[in-house]
Amino acid sequence: MARDLPKYTVPSLTPEEGAKVAAILQERLNALNDLALTLKHIHWNVVGPHFIAVHEMIDPQVDAVRAMVDAVAERIATLGAAPVGTPGALVAARTWDDYSIGRASTSEHLGALDEVYVGVITDHRRAAADVEDLDTVTNDLLVGHLHELELFHWFVRAHLESAGGALSTAGASTEKDAAKAAGDAAAHAS
Ligand SMILES: [Fe+2]
Repeated sequence: MARDLPKYTVPSLTPEEGAKVAAILQERLNALNDLALTLKHIHWNVVGPHFIAVHEMIDPQVDAVRAMVDAVAERIATLGAAPVGTPGALVAARTWDDYSIGRASTSEHLGALDEVYVGVITDHRRAAADVEDLDTVTNDLLVGHLHELELFHWFVRAHLESAGGALSTAGASTEKDAAKAAGDAAAHAS
């Protein structure tokens, strides 16, 4: 489907370039909206030892990701395009599955959240690289997000890390595998 070209965009970009950057940002908007909702879901569903630490660690991440959502949507509008923020459009456009874990231990959710952050950060870095030559302002916006996202990822991974520096989720490639690996490691440690 041909994308509608913006009637205006930021100075020095062509309408085609503005549309291309906005399309890349729309995918990041979907990913960050999904992440904010998933983080709240985890906040509500963690149980067991370390509940309050993990429950309370998540909310500042939600707030930060919501601020990223707002900044991305407003950058799309600034570029002359219309940000799409409805849940149906998000689900129709996304290329990943819904977060797959309900009520579960803190270790299992943190193991799965490790995988979630791997996916979001990998795609965010790719998007930042894709706009680097086209629009340095959007590149700067995405790199700014990565400072926070990678810090939050470390907060999660620090719970999964041994004193030797190994991650209990190493080798896992799905949320369920990562959750199981992290849960098993916590069970053996207790
Ligand atoms: Fe809450």
